[in-house]
Amino acid sequence: MSCLSMIKHKMAGTEDVFKKIISHAKEYGFVFPSSEIYDGLSAVYDYGQNGTELKNNIKDYWWTSMVRMNENIVGLDAAILMHPTTWKASGHVDAFSDPLIDNKDSKKRYRADNLIEDYVDKIRAKIDKEVAKAAKRFGDDFNEGTYRTTNERVMGYQEKIDTVNGKMVEAISKNDMEGMRQIIVDAGIACPESGSKNWTDVRQFNLMFSTEIGSVSTESSTIYLRPETAQGIFVNFLNIQKTGRMKIPFGIAQIGKAFRNEIVARQFIFRLKEFEQMEMQYFVKPGEQMKWYDEWKERRLAWYTDLGLPAEKLRFHAHENLAHYADAAEDIEFEFPMGFRELEGIHSRTDFDLKAHEDNSGKKLQYFDNEANESYTPYVVETSMGLDRMVLAVLSHAFTEEELEGGSSRVVMKIPAPLAPIKAAFFPLVKKDGLPEVAKEIMGELKLDFNCLYEEKDTIGKRYRRQDAIGTPFCVTVDHDTLEDNAVTIRERDSMDQKRVPIADLGAIIGEAVDIKSLFNNKS
Ligand code: GAP
Repeated sequence: MSCLSMIKHKMAGTEDVFKKIISHAKEYGFVFPSSEIYDGLSAVYDYGQNGTELKNNIKDYWWTSMVRMNENIVGLDAAILMHPTTWKASGHVDAFSDPLIDNKDSKKRYRADNLIEDYVDKIRAKIDKEVAKAAKRFGDDFNEGTYRTTNERVMGYQEKIDTVNGKMVEAISKNDMEGMRQIIVDAGIACPESGSKNWTDVRQFNLMFSTEIGSVSTESSTIYLRPETAQGIFVNFLNIQKTGRMKIPFGIAQIGKAFRNEIVARQFIFRLKEFEQMEMQYFVKPGEQMKWYDEWKERRLAWYTDLGLPAEKLRFHAHENLAHYADAAEDIEFEFPMGFRELEGIHSRTDFDLKAHEDNSGKKLQYFDNEANESYTPYVVETSMGLDRMVLAVLSHAFTEEELEGGSSRVVMKIPAPLAPIKAAFFPLVKKDGLPEVAKEIMGELKLDFNCLYEEKDTIGKRYRRQDAIGTPFCVTVDHDTLEDNAVTIRERDSMDQKRVPIADLGAIIGEAVDIKSLFNNKS
């Protein structure tokens, strides 16, 4: 059967699209607000049946590419709770905070840097509008680069952006909270809620969640939920190096929960209080960190494009303001519905963490290099990505509204097949004549190979739509002919092409497309 030709539906504004993705994620069992029956908990979400599968598949792809594909990278699963001195040593007790400001009239609390960034985004949008207008006016003769650097209005906007950004970087680096407030006042930034410009001072607010360990509440019993997984790797550096007889350069990879008391809940699963990180610390010889930093930047970017995320939706963004531990840092940004935002950080963390733990614990955390016959504290290159942000990247890239020939439409989640929650759905054409039994039997043969689902309710068309909305790459229909010819109809999600194939070939056809190995086919 030939596939229907499709006309891509022109989407409405990006905010509308984002809202649609959030409600789609809820309606189809990907992401629910946490404890929703009690009206939810701000910036905390639960993953439903399909979200959990998607998340597990992303983890599998990351773990395979980091640990299984690299003989010199091994895994770790460290505890969330760590000795409190860990966080003193890492600098989180003293310096892991956000600058917060309150509006006195609306009583709303904001991150001062977010208010300024939003202001800059608005000016940027004005530039984009000017550029789009000019592009329309000049047609094929339009040179965007020249226009951006010569048009007076655009240059004026750009100057404003550069000035505000420059002042913000300076204020953050000097921990100058009065300076931060002044930027907001000078720019005339109003409270998005009330329009009022009546602001409090800016105060630093530590992002770590703390609680008490044991039954006595004294200062020394304060314990933190880890704000990053990395420190579990640093404190286990020697354990793994010695027991695994690891030789530098080598890496330790970990997937696990992290917690940050993000006061300003924004953007769905993009900024959460409880989230998951997938981090890898690569221990290298001092002086070689830049070589490895460049290599990991390249490898991490390829991890996304190998998956089919388009290169034009990914970019590097160099940190203007380096964290206390870094000598170089760049983010991989993805174009989410709300614009380009950080998805992963690549940091050259020097020997800061190992040295700090050495100082605070009194234990030597050095590596003995047999070849050079010397001991040294390794430098660390870190790749750190947010699993929840990756789920959002996949969901938002996959979400597609299509108008079909004949006036009908569908929402299809074009999730890369190896990441799709369900790989194949099995339908009997009708609920009788032995077809359900045959469909279940075929599925039974395959369900150990990949995640399958059986459905017999509603028309085949409706069943296809439901699987499209989840992102299931293949639907397999058993009909009366199957009983005679041992063949079934297989329908592919994106093209909607249908073909008749022998039951015996199903495993190979589906398996080849959905196997995580397909993402590594061109790799050594
Ligand atoms: N160990 C380094 C580190 O934690 P980070 O840039 O603070 O660096 C790394 O975080 C990644 O963790 C980010 O790129 C982002 O994907 C994710 N992440 C950070 N804070 C998050 C939050 N509140 N909610 C969801 N993901 C977050």
